[in-house]
Amino acid sequence: MTINNIDTAIPDSDLKDQDFDFAGLSRDQLLDPSVLEALVKDFFPEFAGGGVSGEKCLVKEASDNVLKTDGIISQDQFYNSVLDSLKKENYSELAGYYADISALYPDKSKTVPTSEESPRNAKPQNIDSSRLNETEKYSNPYEGLKIEPVIVPVSKISTDHFDVNAVRKDFPILSEKVNGKDLVWLDNAATTHKPKSVIDRISYFYEHENSNVHRGAHTLAARSTDAYESSRGKIAKFLNASSPNEIVFVRGTTEAINLVAQSWGKYNIGKDDEIVVSWLEHHANIVPWQMLCSETGAKLRVIPVDESGQIILSEYERLLGPKTRLVAVTHVSNALGTITPVEEIVSSAHRHGAKVLIDGAQSVSHIQVDVQSINCDFFAFSGHKIFAPTGIGALYGKQKLLNAMRPYQGGGNMIADVTFEKTTYQAPPYRFEAGTGNIADAVGLGAAIDYVNSLGLENISRYEHSLLEYGTDALRHISGLKLIGTAKEKASVLSFTMEGFTTEEIGNALSQEGIAVRAGHHCAQPILRRYGLESTVRPSLSFYNTRDEIDLLVSVLKRLKSSRNFG
Ligand SMILES: Cc1ncc(COP(=O)(O)O)c(C=O)c1O
Repeated sequence: MTINNIDTAIPDSDLKDQDFDFAGLSRDQLLDPSVLEALVKDFFPEFAGGGVSGEKCLVKEASDNVLKTDGIISQDQFYNSVLDSLKKENYSELAGYYADISALYPDKSKTVPTSEESPRNAKPQNIDSSRLNETEKYSNPYEGLKIEPVIVPVSKISTDHFDVNAVRKDFPILSEKVNGKDLVWLDNAATTHKPKSVIDRISYFYEHENSNVHRGAHTLAARSTDAYESSRGKIAKFLNASSPNEIVFVRGTTEAINLVAQSWGKYNIGKDDEIVVSWLEHHANIVPWQMLCSETGAKLRVIPVDESGQIILSEYERLLGPKTRLVAVTHVSNALGTITPVEEIVSSAHRHGAKVLIDGAQSVSHIQVDVQSINCDFFAFSGHKIFAPTGIGALYGKQKLLNAMRPYQGGGNMIADVTFEKTTYQAPPYRFEAGTGNIADAVGLGAAIDYVNSLGLENISRYEHSLLEYGTDALRHISGLKLIGTAKEKASVLSFTMEGFTTEEIGNALSQEGIAVRAGHHCAQPILRRYGLESTVRPSLSFYNTRDEIDLLVSVLKRLKSSRNFG
C-alpha cells in the first residue's frame, strides 16, 4: 500500500484521482461498497460494534480512534465514514488516514491482506513468557506491528502463600543502604518504589519505541501509539471501566481533580450550588473546589468524621439536598488510612442528582477498584502511588459525562480541525490530552498494572491487612504512643504521635536507622486539626514490607522513648 504524492497540507481541491493508490485500488474502485467493505474487514477484523454513536464521525477522527482504541466505532460507522469522505472528496482527511494505516502495515505495500494474514491478527510466536525474566533481552519479531515486549516479574506468587522475600527481589531500590543501614521504606503513601519490570519497560520504550504518538506516519510512531494505547486499555480493565475511552491520561490525581473542576465543574456548578467534600480530604481534593467556589459563588460543605476517623454517614445524608451538584471524597485517607464507604456515598449522592468524584490516590494499590460497581462518575489516581513513575496518572470519567465536557487545555493532539475561525475537538479521551503527553511513563504505568495483576490485588490486600494488624498491635504497646485514625476499615497507614517528642524528632531518629516515614501534615491539614494536631508520624505499608521491618520500627521507637525517660 502506498500513498502517492498525498500530503495532508495539500488542499482537497488540488488533489487528483491519480494521487490515490490505496492497496493498488483507484478511488473509483474504492467507491464500490463491496470492495471497501472487504478492505475495512481486512484491516480491522476485530471490529465488534458498540462505542460512540450519535457523534459525527469524520474519517480522520475515525481513523485516529481506530488506531488509538479498538472498537470505538462499529464497523458500519467506520465504513460509512470512509465512504462519505470519498464521496465528499475529503482527500486530506483520507490522506491522513491512509498515512496512519500505512505506518501500521509497512510491509504490505500494495497488497490487501486477507483476514488471516492481517498483521493485526498476528500473534507473537516462540515466546514462552514464563521463561523470560528481567535479565533477558526483548526482541520484536514483528517489526512495526502491534506487539509488546513480554516482561514478567521474577517472583511467582501462590494464592495461599505470599512470598514477600521473592517480591522484594523485584524492587532493586530495596537493597539500598541508607545511613549505613538497610533501607526500610515505610513511606508508601507518599510514593511507591518501582519493580524492575517497570524500569525495564520504560528503558525498552526509549530503546525501541520512542516517538510521538498519533501524528507521525512511521513505524516508531505506530509502536509508541500501540504501547500508549495498550496502557490505556490496561488501566480501563484494571478499574473495570466500560471502555478505554473513559480513561484520560493526566499528570496525577491533582491534575485529574483540577480537570474535572475546570471542564465539568465550571459549566455545571453555579452560584449557591453546593460541593460536598469530607473532612478526610487531601488538599488536592479541597483546594480545586475552593477555587471553583470563589469563581462561581458555589459553597463548600464538609462531611464530619467520628473519633475513629470514619465519615459519619447520617451527617452526610443531612448535607445532601437539591443544591448539591458534586460530592468529592477520598476512597482511602492518606493521613489516617480510613477506607470510606464509597458505594453508599455514591448512591446517596445520585438520589439527589449529584455527581461523585472519588479520589483513588491511596486506594488503587491496596484494594480492588471497580468503578462500575462503585458507580462513581469520576475516579482519579496517580501512577507513582501504584509502582509506576511520577508525572503520570489517570482520570476515569463516565463516557456520557466526558462526551459533554469541554477541553481542559487547548493545543495539539486534542483537535479534529483548526481554522482561524473555528476549531473542532477530538472525542474523549483525546479532547483532554492537549500537547505531547508523558508517553513513556504512561507505558510504564501499564507495566506497573501488569505487575500488580501478576501478584493479584486480593493477595496484596490480604497480606497488607495482616501486616497492618500486626503493626497496629505492636505500636499500641508503646507507652505514650497514640494512634491517630482507628477506623474499622483501614488500609496501609499507621499515623501516630508520641508523648514527649515532636514528629520531626521521631522522623529524624528513624531515618538514622534507615527507616523512611513521613512526619508532617501529609497535605491534609483539616483532618489533623480535627484531632488538635499539626502533624503526625506516618508509616505507610506496601506489600513489599515485612514484619521484621515493623519490629525494627517498634524497637527504634522504644529505644527513643527510653533514651528520653532515662536521659
Ligand atoms: C488521597 C490523596 N489525594 C491526592 C493526592 C495527590 O496526588 P498527586 O500529588 O500524585 O497528584 C495524594 C497524594 O499524596 C493523596 O494521598
